[in-house]
Amino acid sequence: MNQNQQQFRPVDADRHVENAPADASGEAGQDLPREVRVGVIGVGQMGADHVARISARIKGARVSAVTDYFRDKAQELADSVPGCRVVATAEELIAADDVDAVLIASPGKFHKDQAIACIEARKPVLCEKPLAMNPQDAYAVVEAEKASGGRYVSVGFMRRFDAEYAELKDAIDSGELGQISVINCKHRNATTLPGFVDSMMVYDSAVHEIDAIHYFLDEQVIEVQAVLPLPGPRADEGQHDPMLLLFRTESGRIVTDELYVNTDSGYEVRTEVLGSEGISTIGMGITRVTTQKAGGSWGGAIPADFRPRFVAAYDAEVQAWIAAVLDGSNVAERSATAWDGYLAATTCEAAETALTTPGFVPVSVQPRP
Ligand SMILES: NC(=O)c1ccc[n+]([C@@H]2O[C@H](COP(=O)([O-])OP(=O)(O)OC[C@H]3O[C@@H](n4cnc5c(N)ncnc54)[C@H](O)[C@@H]3O)[C@@H](O)[C@H]2O)c1
Repeated sequence: MNQNQQQFRPVDADRHVENAPADASGEAGQDLPREVRVGVIGVGQMGADHVARISARIKGARVSAVTDYFRDKAQELADSVPGCRVVATAEELIAADDVDAVLIASPGKFHKDQAIACIEARKPVLCEKPLAMNPQDAYAVVEAEKASGGRYVSVGFMRRFDAEYAELKDAIDSGELGQISVINCKHRNATTLPGFVDSMMVYDSAVHEIDAIHYFLDEQVIEVQAVLPLPGPRADEGQHDPMLLLFRTESGRIVTDELYVNTDSGYEVRTEVLGSEGISTIGMGITRVTTQKAGGSWGGAIPADFRPRFVAAYDAEVQAWIAAVLDGSNVAERSATAWDGYLAATTCEAAETALTTPGFVPVSVQPRP
């Protein structure tokens, strides 16, 4: 039994249930909504993508309200979604009677306060990564959830829902690969916007591999080292691209993360697990390799950005979240929790320090409330 199941707690009975069919009930016997009315905070790139996904592909949910700092943008989107209205602020959206669950896709600096407001309103929340911008704020969310006595927070580390990630996780957990000593990760983007400084390579890019360490190995990172090679010709002034991060876990495993965000090529995310009984690699795009007819070469398409690579994972993540809200558990079994969001934040902080500190930098982890 995993931690989510141990702490199973249904959606609060005193919340809105007018959609509930007569026979709908959670494990505690109270009525549950049959259609989750989702409010989306922030409708930029990710938020608009999630609104489109929920409206077109997710079963058991619809978008009932959206809000954005730019009201016109929110209005334009709401006009394209039947039954969706615009509310003025995130606080109003979280409190709204026609919002059962909240998806946060605003910039990271707002996540802590918005996630805590959802907990206080007793509403399940899928918070896009990061949970917060620093470990202290992420820990405050963990504490707020603990104080609530319920389970409300899922963090949007969608790779946990990627089919190849799931297959690799199963291979590790089953023992098929034997003892794992090293994991090599690669995270490559075609390009980034100007101003994507070293710390953003940690907090926006490496954060996904950091969560993957916790997901694959079920253990914490104890120290991080940054190795900074000669910057590539497309790196911004002062930016260390490519960058290598080394993570050591509690049991002594090493995870390498090679970040290269200006390849001028496309989006590639690879993971190679070195086990005593097998070496397993995902993210090679094997299913799309094509042999070219001329030039004596072979190769395949590389997606331009993260969306085509992980669209199925985003769909699976949101569908699993909706299913968890409907069955009252609120947080899907495979999902990253508030605690995972905290572990990512504190490991990112150590990685950021490692950028300017020689050798390994320890990761400071507070006791779990
Ligand atoms: N899981 C992933 O792979 C993934 C990928 C991209 C982005 N993200 C995360 O999603 C979040 C949003 O990123 P994005 O790329 O969509 O950014 P974005 O800038 O495109 O969109 C953010 C939107 O939030 C709005 N906003 C700003 N302040 C707000 C507030 N206080 N309340 C409500 N709305 C507000 C902005 O006007 C904008 O429309 C970030 O946390 C980012 O890290 C996750």
